[in-house]
Amino acid sequence: MRIVVCESPEQVAEVAADESIEYLGLACASTAKNPESTVLGLATGSTPLGLYQKWIERFRSGEISFRNVVSFNLDEYCGVPPEDPQSYHYFMQGNLFKHIDILPQNTHIPHTNSDDLPASAEAYEIAIAQAGGIDLQILGIGSEGHIGFNELGSSFSSATRVKTLTSKTRQDNARFFASLEQVPKMAITMGLGTIMNARAVLLLATGLHKAQTIRDTVEGPVTAMVPASILQFHPNATLILDAAAASKLAHLDYYLECERNQQSL
Ligand code: GLP
Repeated sequence: MRIVVCESPEQVAEVAADESIEYLGLACASTAKNPESTVLGLATGSTPLGLYQKWIERFRSGEISFRNVVSFNLDEYCGVPPEDPQSYHYFMQGNLFKHIDILPQNTHIPHTNSDDLPASAEAYEIAIAQAGGIDLQILGIGSEGHIGFNELGSSFSSATRVKTLTSKTRQDNARFFASLEQVPKMAITMGLGTIMNARAVLLLATGLHKAQTIRDTVEGPVTAMVPASILQFHPNATLILDAAAASKLAHLDYYLECERNQQSL
């Protein structure tokens, strides 16, 4: 694990854009760094919005291209059609996809408008595998340590599946809906096993309200009660935090020294 601490959410976005650049096609196709194709795992929530804005800016300036990128989003609410403004389909379209040159057929978000949700989840896991697996997974984190919609108690080996949301998650996400009653009760989410199969993971967290869950993720025991703590076992996980989100880490000075020495923990 690497812990990178930034002064502000703006700097978190900038550093995350820098960290992800090797996974994106450079606009100049002749450079050796241009990957043939990259599979990105994408997240929703407010935290990755700054990163998506940086990607859009760098795309517009001609620095990067998403022409060779295939994307798989972490999750989608059940019972919310793709054209609904509360859906993650709508979120991704408005906040990223329509602003860049990613090919629509290369973007994937779980289908939750199916009569057979378990089959839809299973098909999603197979599609990720057929694409060659995820090269770089972007993650936010829920206030109780969920990643995607892997709520507390999620099996460490779980694949993409239908998940019931906790009342805390529904309350946290109620700010995007007209009322708490309208927040869906279920979602399809990549599993913890799916996320752990990604070759690299970038988890972004900002704000004091994420400080305790970041402490539990990094310094607590690895437990399904804090699903993100499984990242302690990931060989290539980087946490990019602002100072507020990092503020409860007991050994912060040591992590910063390791980062200066270019060492993972
Ligand atoms: C939702 C998403 C998660 C996201 C979390 C935190 O529950 N399913 O992927 O990490 O929200 O959102 P925010 O970044 O808005 O705090």
